[in-house]
Amino acid sequence: MFKEQTIETKKGYFGQFGGSFVPPVLEGPLARLSEAFEAATRNQDFINEYRYYLTHYVGRPSPLYYAKRLSDYTGSKIYLKREDLNHTGAHKINNCLGQIMLARGMGAKEIIAETGAGQHGVATATAAALFGIPCKIFMGSRDAQRQKLNVQRMKLLGAQIITTDQGTASLKDAVDVALGYYIEHPDSFYLLGSAVGPHPYPSIVRFFQSIIGEEARKQIFEHEKRLPDSIFACVGGGSNAIGLFSAFLGDPTVEIHAAEGGGEGPGSGKTASTLVLGKPLVFQGTYSYCIADEDGQPATAYSIASGLDYPGVGPEHAHLKESGRVTYHCITDHEAIEAFYLLSKLEGIIPAIESSHAVALATKYLRGKNNLSIINLSGRGDKDVEREMENE
Ligand SMILES: Cc1ncc(COP(=O)(O)O)c(C=O)c1O
Repeated sequence: MFKEQTIETKKGYFGQFGGSFVPPVLEGPLARLSEAFEAATRNQDFINEYRYYLTHYVGRPSPLYYAKRLSDYTGSKIYLKREDLNHTGAHKINNCLGQIMLARGMGAKEIIAETGAGQHGVATATAAALFGIPCKIFMGSRDAQRQKLNVQRMKLLGAQIITTDQGTASLKDAVDVALGYYIEHPDSFYLLGSAVGPHPYPSIVRFFQSIIGEEARKQIFEHEKRLPDSIFACVGGGSNAIGLFSAFLGDPTVEIHAAEGGGEGPGSGKTASTLVLGKPLVFQGTYSYCIADEDGQPATAYSIASGLDYPGVGPEHAHLKESGRVTYHCITDHEAIEAFYLLSKLEGIIPAIESSHAVALATKYLRGKNNLSIINLSGRGDKDVEREMENE
């Protein structure tokens, strides 16, 4: 269906990165998931039904909006890919609908998922309600506090929320607890929210998010009759970014830039800028980059944005970094907050604090460059308003 451009070299590997490093009990379920996914991608009925939900339930295609005042401010012509306008308010729903259809096809009796910012939790709870499958959402207690609105939404949608105080009580810990539960209940369907984890998840998530790039490419040709000079997205695990990038990887004239959650910046020890400041290691089922301590072990991450506050990153991004095709940047909390206010005031669009990192990078990088550019606005900022106003 989607003409994604991928650099998957052999099944589950992107160059040297990727693979599946899981306990034996999960090998069978992941092999079955891989088979179900591959069959689905060849099944036109599955694709048609998925497309149906994207159009009539999510509200796709999301607009590619010319942000005139932001463009004037920056000195480059900027379009925003409006994933914030999707049902539930972010790109996460694209992936959740695809995976819940796989889960239904595999006869799953229960859905489990992790969440950081709560957007993936809300999208999972939404898809589970739509398909009538019970669901449990795992979340760090610090994130549950930071993203209260989304916790309330998930409850309203009928999900059971399981919070953990483990570690830094954020996304990594939610994944650890969800993986632990999955190991004990391998019959449940783990609906993973980003392009991370063991094979086949990075490929599944890229496939379902590639609709972003497919649409954006078509839309920029409609508006401008040419390819953009540069494109931008934020990277937590990397799903919204790979969704946009997948349509442009084979176009050497298109510069590709990604903004990581830099937290308090390099040297502070408080960062989630994995590809800029981390190193390659095996973490949560895959070989990719990770924030590491002095002994080379996975360390804790920090970012103001719950959705970027994760020490790992998807293996395809690790390969895209090493091949030089994508440039990854460390964007601090401070820069992201400034961009949060900037876009709100210039365009009347309140971005998610995660997406604000992409806006911050683009406005900094593009200043006076006279580029034609696309920023992926991965989500809306309703969930972040209360905290920002408290900090004013
Ligand atoms: C709005 C928004 N953007 C971006 C992200 C980061 O995730 P990913 O890198 O998988 O797109 C999140 C994660 O929760 C999010 O909620």
